[in-house]
Amino acid sequence: MKSLLFSRFFILLPWVLIVIIMIDVDPRRPAPHLGPHPHFSRYAGGRWGAAPRPGVPRPALLPRDGGPDGGPQRGAEQARNRSQPPPPQPPPPLPTIYAITPTYSRPVQKAELTRLANTFRQVAQLHWILVEDAAGRSELVSRFLARAGLPSTHLHVPTPRRYKRPGLPRATEQRNAGLAWLRQTHRHEPQRPQPGVLFFADDDNTYSLELFQEMRTTRKVSVWPVGLVGGRRYERPLVENGKVVGWYTGWRADRPFAIDMAGFAVSLQVILSNPKAVFKRRGSQPGMQESDFLKQITTVEELEPKANNCTKVLVWHTRTEKVNLANEPKYHLDTVKIEV
Ligand SMILES: *[C@@H]1O[C@H](CO)[C@@H](O)[C@H](O)[C@H]1NC(C)=O
Ligand SMILES: *[C@@H]1O[C@H](CO)[C@@H](O)[C@H](O)[C@H]1NC(C)=O
Repeated sequence: MKSLLFSRFFILLPWVLIVIIMIDVDPRRPAPHLGPHPHFSRYAGGRWGAAPRPGVPRPALLPRDGGPDGGPQRGAEQARNRSQPPPPQPPPPLPTIYAITPTYSRPVQKAELTRLANTFRQVAQLHWILVEDAAGRSELVSRFLARAGLPSTHLHVPTPRRYKRPGLPRATEQRNAGLAWLRQTHRHEPQRPQPGVLFFADDDNTYSLELFQEMRTTRKVSVWPVGLVGGRRYERPLVENGKVVGWYTGWRADRPFAIDMAGFAVSLQVILSNPKAVFKRRGSQPGMQESDFLKQITTVEELEPKANNCTKVLVWHTRTEKVNLANEPKYHLDTVKIEV
């Protein structure tokens, strides 16, 4: 008797299961999505949380609690309002940071550019303007930029031979090429350009990511300290009551702007409204590049001190040691050709 009951039970069990499954499957719906995280939001519409099919009206949401009188319902709505404040206004567009980097071919070039790219890649809305001191774009830099994963512009301009002497300022033509590209690119918006800030990022410096947050809010021209420069541990603008009043520097403090190329940023607006401001060769004494340029676009009183009123070093004028290539063979000896 007992075994008969058992065998009946086991014969019936599969049928019962099949009937249950058939009742449960709604033939009009696609099979439920059984991903690793099934989505069971009660507000998503379907029994399975499936998105409503196009053309099928979405069922009205049932009140979560409370009856038709609205009292508890409004309470629930208020609770929801409290927990979900209205979405904030979209923030104003982030000013683009344009980094103008003069570069020239040398054994450490790719290493320096790699270091710089690794920093820049972590900065939102940064556009890299790389200007080669060359008669054409080199393959090394072209390939490098193509793989750098950064919005960039690749320019080139050779330094005239007569300026390639020790003691003369370097990278003048390359910085001016970067400025010319910016003015050309934004020529249709001289009055109200897209918000932007530019700075001169030599390829051997080291940059803290904090520096980019600081410079992004530049209204006209902003300044900050620079580490390991001018024969000192640092140089900086001296600030009183939020205004630049002088310079802490080891060299010619009488310069109008005694600041390194790495120590300032300029808004795009200022560059466009001073179309003639460039780095000068003629009449520029050694070490006066920065002063000569800044004189054309601003005054000391107007400067905006950054980096906690110029008390924090966020950029360092690092120098790569001269590479020892004493054992480099004169002719190519390796079986493969490798870009370094
Ligand atoms: C909840 O917020 C909406 C819009 O944000 C508003 O129209 C509604 O009156 C609020 N409801 C309650 C109960 O505060
Ligand atoms: C800079 O100094 C001014 C004037 O002393 C002060 O109002 C301001 O808060 C300071 N800024 C910072 C970032 O410390």
